[in-house]
Amino acid sequence: MNPFVLLLLYTLGTSVVLAASIKEESRPSEEPRLSVDPKPSEEPNGQCSKGCTCMQDDYSFELNVYCSTRNFTQVPSDIPLSTRSLWLDGNLFTTLPAAAFEKLSNLEFLNLQSSLLVSLDGHIFRGLNSLAHLHLERNNIRSLPGIVFQGTPNLASLSLNNNQLSRIDDKLFAGLSHMWLLNLGWNSLSVLPETGFQDLQGLRELVLAGNRLVYLQPQLFQGLTELKELDLTGNYLKVIKANVFLKLPKLQKLYLAQNQIVTVAPRAFVGMKSLRWLDLSRNRLSVLHDETFLGLHSLHVLRLSNNSIGSLRSGTFRDLQYLEELCLCHNQIRALGVKVFEGLGHLEVLILENNRLQEARMGTFMGLNHLAVIKLTGSCFHSLPDQVFKGLSKLHSIHLDKSCLTKISAQSFTGLTGLRRLFLQHNNISMIERQSFVELQGLQQLDLRFNQLTSITSHTFYGLKNLDYLLMSGNVLRSLPAEALLPLQHLSWLDLSGNRLEFILNATIYMLPRLRYLNLKDNVLVNLPASIPDGLDQLWLSGNNWKCDCSAKPFRDFILQKPQVVPLQVEMLGEGEEPHTLLTIYNNITCASPPSITGLDLRNIGSEHFRDC
Ligand SMILES: *[C@@H]1O[C@H](CO)[C@@H](O)[C@H](O)[C@H]1NC(C)=O
Ligand SMILES: *[C@@H]1O[C@H](CO)[C@@H](O)[C@H](O)[C@H]1NC(C)=O
Ligand SMILES: *[C@@H]1O[C@H](CO)[C@@H](O)[C@H](O)[C@H]1NC(C)=O
Ligand SMILES: *[C@@H]1O[C@H](CO)[C@@H](O)[C@H](O)[C@H]1NC(C)=O
Ligand SMILES: *[C@@H]1O[C@H](CO)[C@@H](O)[C@H](O)[C@H]1NC(C)=O
Repeated sequence: MNPFVLLLLYTLGTSVVLAASIKEESRPSEEPRLSVDPKPSEEPNGQCSKGCTCMQDDYSFELNVYCSTRNFTQVPSDIPLSTRSLWLDGNLFTTLPAAAFEKLSNLEFLNLQSSLLVSLDGHIFRGLNSLAHLHLERNNIRSLPGIVFQGTPNLASLSLNNNQLSRIDDKLFAGLSHMWLLNLGWNSLSVLPETGFQDLQGLRELVLAGNRLVYLQPQLFQGLTELKELDLTGNYLKVIKANVFLKLPKLQKLYLAQNQIVTVAPRAFVGMKSLRWLDLSRNRLSVLHDETFLGLHSLHVLRLSNNSIGSLRSGTFRDLQYLEELCLCHNQIRALGVKVFEGLGHLEVLILENNRLQEARMGTFMGLNHLAVIKLTGSCFHSLPDQVFKGLSKLHSIHLDKSCLTKISAQSFTGLTGLRRLFLQHNNISMIERQSFVELQGLQQLDLRFNQLTSITSHTFYGLKNLDYLLMSGNVLRSLPAEALLPLQHLSWLDLSGNRLEFILNATIYMLPRLRYLNLKDNVLVNLPASIPDGLDQLWLSGNNWKCDCSAKPFRDFILQKPQVVPLQVEMLGEGEEPHTLLTIYNNITCASPPSITGLDLRNIGSEHFRDC
């Protein structure tokens, strides 16, 4: 009987739990998958290799053999001839002899990653005519014989990343016209043979990231007419010449980040009609030519962050009419002239944070009709030019935190009826002119934390009828007139902590029908509220000078009834770096008077103290 049928009969009668060592991540989606209901066999009668697990795919009847992480030092000699996929990753091979897989002419998938391989015999893959997917990544391979892939003409994907290759033979990939993925990333390649890729006409993805490439020859990528993705991140490239990417009409993503690029020649990307994504961040660019981005009519994302760009000329981006995201953060741009962003009619996200911007003009952002987010964090404007955002009717968010602002003038935000979020924290704002926010009818979040505001008038928040979150901690407010909050009928979150408030009127709290969260920590408040609205579900009161006499009794009765509204402490994940630390935030209601109970928490004062009230 056919051994294949025998195996099938056998496997139908067994059920062995699949070995845990089979790694999901070693099997990309285009490669063989486990069947839905695998029927493994650890075979005593010679059908499966000793120490391996065999599995028949229910639908294709293809045989998968799993020998991952078995401490093998040699390829087992008894692998079934009908094997289609063979997992040998995580073993201890160091080297493999010629023709190690010679009889496995049905093999389509071979995984040898992380197996301590240092060298390969030139004939190791002889006979693997059907092999389509070969994993050799994460070994210590220093060089490859030029003929090693001659016996595998049907290779479709080849992973050689994370080895120690320092050179590549001119003929290594000769004849591999079916290949669509080649990963050579994270090796030590400093130069590539100029015609080394010329036979790879079917290649769609080429990864060269993390090598030491200094230079790209003009011929290198010619003929790769199907290439869609080219990753050159993290090399030592200094110059991008105009003739390197000329014949890549289908390229969609080009990654050039983390090189040492000082110059991109004018017209370097001309002809890249399909390019959608271009990453030039973390290089040393100081100048962009007028024609740097000429012809990139399909570009959607352009990243230029972490360079040394000092200024932008008008017209630089004029061909990029489909650009959606432009990232220029961490450069040294000081001023934005008129029309610098001309032509970017589809731009949705403009990131300019951490430059040295001191100047913008009324027409700077003109024409950005689809802009939704603008990040200007870390600029130093002092004051915003009037109507600088005029015409940006789709704008949702403005980030103007840490921008040296000292005042907000009445014309700063005119016309922004669709704005939802406005970030103004960490400035030195001491003055907000009357009705500065009057047109922001859609605003939901206003962040004014850590400024120098001393007062709020009844006109300050005029017009903010949809505001949901108002954050004003870290200012120097002494009082809060009740009518100041009157326009905020939608407010649910009010943070007033870290100010100098001496009293808060009953009316102030009751004026906000939707208020759920109120933070009054770290002020100089004395009188506890007599009652609080039903809707409020968190109230923060620690760090004040509470007077715990008879006037505090109604409030004490309230919190003893509903302690969850004034929680004694709350655990929170700390912001910022991993690993997150768990912070405990206290909400003590420490009495400052009368003297007999100074320092005690209102919750801990016995009812006898209030007996005579
Ligand atoms: C491989 O060797 C290591 C170290 O000697 C041992 O801990 C591990 O259990 C072995 N694995 C197998 C599958 O034998
Ligand atoms: C840019 O540089 C800053 C500061 O050196 C760093 O924090 C940031 O992660 C970098 N951003 C990118 C995209 O490289
Ligand atoms: C605010 O102003 C003070 C002095 O006026 C200055 O020292 C500080 O750096 C300023 N802070 C910001 C964020 O601009
Ligand atoms: C505070 O205002 C609310 C609503 O107007 C009212 O019900 C409550 O009695 C007031 N409390 C005090 C102490 O004035
Ligand atoms: C708040 O109360 C906790 C105990 O509930 C105490 O450990 C902590 O020191 C108090 N903090 C202050 C600022 O009083």
